[in-house]
Amino acid sequence: MGIKETLGHLLETAQQELETIRDKQALEALRVRIIGKKGELTALLRGMGQLLPEERPAAGQMINEAREKFTAMLEARQEALRMIERRAALQKETIDVTEPVPPLPLGSAHPVNLVMAEMVDCFTGMGFEVVEGPEVELDHYNFELMNIPKNHPARDAQDTFYVDDNIVLRTHTSPMQARTMLSRKPPIRVICPGRVFRSDEADATHSPVFHQMEGLVVDRDVTMADLRGTLNAFAERLYGKGITTRFRPSFFPFTEPSTEVDLTCAACHGKGCRVCKGTGWIEVLGGGMVNPHVLEMCGIDPTVYSGFAFGIGLERIAMQRYGIPDLRLLYEGDVRFLGQFR
Ligand code: PHE
Repeated sequence: MGIKETLGHLLETAQQELETIRDKQALEALRVRIIGKKGELTALLRGMGQLLPEERPAAGQMINEAREKFTAMLEARQEALRMIERRAALQKETIDVTEPVPPLPLGSAHPVNLVMAEMVDCFTGMGFEVVEGPEVELDHYNFELMNIPKNHPARDAQDTFYVDDNIVLRTHTSPMQARTMLSRKPPIRVICPGRVFRSDEADATHSPVFHQMEGLVVDRDVTMADLRGTLNAFAERLYGKGITTRFRPSFFPFTEPSTEVDLTCAACHGKGCRVCKGTGWIEVLGGGMVNPHVLEMCGIDPTVYSGFAFGIGLERIAMQRYGIPDLRLLYEGDVRFLGQFR
C-alpha cells in the first residue's frame, strides 16, 4: 500500500470510529492513538526517513494534510457531542407548564379594609380626593390647630400616646384638616382614611389602635345642609335605600356647631332591635361646620369661606356591616375569622 492509500484508510477508519464515540474520554483516546507521540500518523511521519529523498516533500505534505483533516474531524465530533449533551440536558430540564398545581392559599381583605375601600369609592364618586397624613404627628396639628389648647381634657395623658412633649401618635385623623387647609386653597374636598391611636384598654368596643376616615369640604357657601346631604348619600350607598341620618347636637372644639350623627339601624331598618338597643339608630360619626377660628389659624378667611368636616369610625361600620360582636376579633389575626369576609 502506498502512503496515499495508507492515509486514506487511516482517515476512513478514524471517521467511522468517531461517529460511534459518545464521550470526551473516548475522543481523547482516539486523538492520542492517531496523533499522539506514539500515534499512527506520528509514526508515519517518523517513518519518512526510510523514503527516498525526492519522495519526502510530497509524502510530508500528504501526512500534514491528513493530520489537519483528522484534527478538523475531531473538532467536528467534539462540537456534535456538545450539541447532543445540551439537547439531553434541555430535555431533562423540561418543565411541563400545563401540569395542574395545587391551588395556592389566597388571603382575603381585612373587614376594616373592605369597609374603607367601599367608603373611599363612595366619597371619591362624590368628588372627594384621598389624602394621607402621618400617624406620628406634631402636637401642633393634632391639637393646637384643631382648637384644642393646652390643658384641654382631650389632651389627657390617659388618652394620648406621647412620643415627647411635641410629638404624639395622632388621636384622630383631624390633623389632616389643618395640613390640607394650610397646603391648598379652597375649594377643598378631601377624605383621609387612616390609623389613629388612643391609650384605651382593649375591650369589646375599644382598641388602642383603630381607624377613622376624616372628611373636609371648604368652599364658599358651604352649609350644614351640604353635610347632611353628603352623609345621607353615604348612608344609602353603604347600607342601601331607606337608611338615613339623624343629627344630634354635640361638641367638638374644631367644629361649630357640632353634631353627633346616627344612621338608621340597618339590622331592623329603624324599628328597634338588639343591635340598636331598641332605638332604631346607630351612632357612627361626629361632624359639624369647621370652626371659624380653625379656618383662620389655617390661613383661610372665615368671612369668605365656610366648611364642614366629619370623622367616621371604621371599626364601628365594619362591626355593624358584618355583624361582628366584639372589636377584638378584628385584631386577633385569626384567619378562620378573617377569611370569612370578601
Ligand atoms: N375628630 C373627631 C373624633 O375623633 C371626629 C370629628 C371629626 C368630629 C371631624 C367633627 C369633625 O372623635
